[in-house]
Amino acid sequence: MTNIDYQNSFILIIICLFSTFFVLFVYFFKKPKNVSNLPPSPPSLPFIGHLHLLFSDSIHKSFQKISSKYGPFLHLRIFNIPIVLVSCASLAYEIFKDHDVNISSRGAAAMDECIMFGSYSFLKAPYGDYWKFIKKLMATNMLGPQALERSRGVRTVELERFHRNLFDKAMKKQSVDVGEEALILVNSILGTMSMGKCFSEKNNVVKISEFVVEISTLGQKIFLAQMLGKPLGKLLISLLKKKTVDVSCKFDELLERIMVKYEEKVDEHQGTETMEAMLAAYRGENAEYKITRNHIKALLAELFLGAGDTSSSTTQWAMAELINNPKSLKRLREEIDSVVGETRLIQETDLPKLPYLQAVIKESLRLHPPGVLLPRELEQGCKIEGLNIPKGTTLVINAYAMMRDPDSWKDPDEFKPERFLGKEEEKRENVLKFLSFGAGRRGCPGSNLGYIMVELAIGVMVQFFDWDIEGEKVNMEEDSRRIFLAMAHPLKFTPLPRIRNPLPL
Ligand code: HEM
Repeated sequence: MTNIDYQNSFILIIICLFSTFFVLFVYFFKKPKNVSNLPPSPPSLPFIGHLHLLFSDSIHKSFQKISSKYGPFLHLRIFNIPIVLVSCASLAYEIFKDHDVNISSRGAAAMDECIMFGSYSFLKAPYGDYWKFIKKLMATNMLGPQALERSRGVRTVELERFHRNLFDKAMKKQSVDVGEEALILVNSILGTMSMGKCFSEKNNVVKISEFVVEISTLGQKIFLAQMLGKPLGKLLISLLKKKTVDVSCKFDELLERIMVKYEEKVDEHQGTETMEAMLAAYRGENAEYKITRNHIKALLAELFLGAGDTSSSTTQWAMAELINNPKSLKRLREEIDSVVGETRLIQETDLPKLPYLQAVIKESLRLHPPGVLLPRELEQGCKIEGLNIPKGTTLVINAYAMMRDPDSWKDPDEFKPERFLGKEEEKRENVLKFLSFGAGRRGCPGSNLGYIMVELAIGVMVQFFDWDIEGEKVNMEEDSRRIFLAMAHPLKFTPLPRIRNPLPL
């Protein structure tokens, strides 16, 4: 009897081993269909493909190294996941021109039941009816030029608060963490623009800013895990699930509380068209598309992440570049002094008259784009440059590498805002090579608001304060743990008041 059990167990083990090898073989060694005439591929290793080339540095820099060695249009394989890597601006331009609809999805969401990284996600929504509905809703009610004009008052109030807070710290000789202050400014603006006065309790903005930092770190891990495909990526994501669900639920609870408060006080009219439009779609009132409460919370959470983290890190990088480039700082200050003067705070209507300020922000975004990589998924197989790209391939556009490409930009690693002030033709050329807000249908719909918030924040810091830093230069090392490019060492200064405070304290 014991002998038979022994024999059965042995057979079972053999079957298990055989099945495991079979599954691994199918996953990792199956040949992709339509493999002929692919873009060139660097030498790969059996089983892992090009994985070993990806983690020599942060992922965007590893990709940059690969493309500078093997070329700007490559076919890579991570285990069995096919990736096409594009690192040259002219090719990216052609791809967006000829294949935009085909590359207008970002692949499947990582998790099901979360408001973050789950199936309610707008960022991960396939190019279809839901995406079109929300894109239009945001343009009409929040991000389009007319909507931005209607919400200008919100930003003026928050900018004054930002200035007052810096001034207060300057008087007390306290150090300021630029990234933290900028995140609070940007999240206060976004929260009030989307949820009205219900949002403006100080605690809400602090909590949301903490969530944004946590989610940004988790997001980067999930992004890397998804690049590994099944089953390894899935396994890594399952290890991250508990933490993600935890943060996501806390974020969900906070947003739910604010929404309930909003709905209870709706008679006081909070004046936020975005929330009104989303609630109408949720309640089904003449809705073009019916959405759930989870869709609303996921969109809000993603706006805080996609808009807050990007705009605040851009503010931090731009300030750091100005400190490291005193000539640019001097020129910017002269421009602001001559246009705005010393008796009032910079305001939105000043921005079109401040071309150097605009150039400073663009140059900073060129060197430090928060979204270093633009990953898309090919809906259908297609031909690019006469080469076959199979359906389902992940297309990775390396915006970071393109904007530091010596073939496209003179002195690509140097901070030279003047390059954005050249002749019209040069400016037009720059637009085609500038991918900090992505491109095509899935390009950033919030670029105008992003520019306004960052330009105002930098404007106030340069107009009113001198900045005392420890050491001669700011350390520009990158933090590769966050989903958006952040500074490894938070930028901390003690502000010194430069001109009299024009606002009551
Ligand atoms: C300096 C600030 C900002 C930067 C650098 C930035 C950058 C980006 C980038 C690179 C993308 C991906 C584009 C692509 O895949 O081609 C993106 C998408 C997006 N951004 Fe921004 N962004 C900024 C500010 C904002 C703001 C202020 C908002 C809204 C309040 C916003 C909302 C979004 C949304 C909703 C998407 C997803 C679009 C879609 O999937 O269709 N962003 N952003």
